[in-house]
Amino acid sequence: MMKTSLSEAAPVSGALRWASQQQWIDEALERLLPGEEASPEVIHRAMRYSVLAGGKRIRPLLCLEAARAIQEETPGIEHPACALEMVHTYSLIHDDLPALDNDDLRRGRPTCHKVFGEAMAILAGDALLTLSFELLVRTPGASDSQRVQLVRELTSAGGTLGGMIGGQVLDLEGEGQTPTASLLDGIHRAKTGALLRASIRMGAILAGASESEMGALSRFGEHLGLAFQIVDDILDVEQSSEALGKTAGKDAAQEKITFPAVYGLARSHEMAAEQRHLGRESLKLFGHRAEGLHALADLIVNRTA
Ligand code: IPE
Ligand code: IPE
Ligand code: MG
Ligand code: MG
Ligand code: MG
Repeated sequence: MMKTSLSEAAPVSGALRWASQQQWIDEALERLLPGEEASPEVIHRAMRYSVLAGGKRIRPLLCLEAARAIQEETPGIEHPACALEMVHTYSLIHDDLPALDNDDLRRGRPTCHKVFGEAMAILAGDALLTLSFELLVRTPGASDSQRVQLVRELTSAGGTLGGMIGGQVLDLEGEGQTPTASLLDGIHRAKTGALLRASIRMGAILAGASESEMGALSRFGEHLGLAFQIVDDILDVEQSSEALGKTAGKDAAQEKITFPAVYGLARSHEMAAEQRHLGRESLKLFGHRAEGLHALADLIVNRTA
């Protein structure tokens, strides 16, 4: 299971904090996914196989911590948190398909299509995407306006206009092209950055953030989103498949446009630290209330998997 990797990078008290939150998220996912016995069983087995395979749960954690920067308790927060993890897992299942990155290993296990076949993996991704919106509209304690805002946030982050699918298209089209800084920026902001930014904004929406709080959290989300993908690209070069739980060295083999390809490894490390610093600056107005977000951002930048 890969979910210990964030905890391993944290000091002991921090490690306990993340491990218990990851467990809380895992329990909510377990509850909110259809059971394996529900018909048609195979699709529910495929969905649960990929979602409950571990994973660092970064998007749900960001959602919880953003809400905590606004208020201590936010009832119903497990719904947007789990919806984000479901959209993320759907994107991984599809990213690994032979037609996209063609990967055999994910979260330390054979990929969904290796176990359930391509047709079922495509459908499991579709089903997770659909379920995520059902969860949002059923968020307990949310007003109608908050439900609409949550849905809007996730549709734009997951979509084609600057969102995840747009980014995946640019990533695929970029294979084998000369890696340039502007192509890279467009790909990374969209394919990963948009959903990470939305994770923070969705926590803030449900917690009732003011406009200025939302603006600051959005800027933080953009910097953290970039830092996250810079680190993902660095780890693909520096780590083993065993440590990552997914195939290492894939980006170079597929001639992807990545930070190390454009800037080299040393500069990529510096750029991740710069984005982290800019993220820290964006949260000034929150003072101590953003401690959880700061700690999580440090873990995301310092992680080894
Ligand atoms: C990996 O995301 C895929 C990208 C968006 C780059 P994570 O590193 O968050 O993967 P899991 O959820 O921990 O498996
Ligand atoms: C995947 O990016 C981004 C999405 C799934 C939207 P990558 O292709 O870099 O992710 P990994 O490295 O396979 O996890
Ligand atoms: Mg990919
Ligand atoms: Mg991939
Ligand atoms: Mg990658």
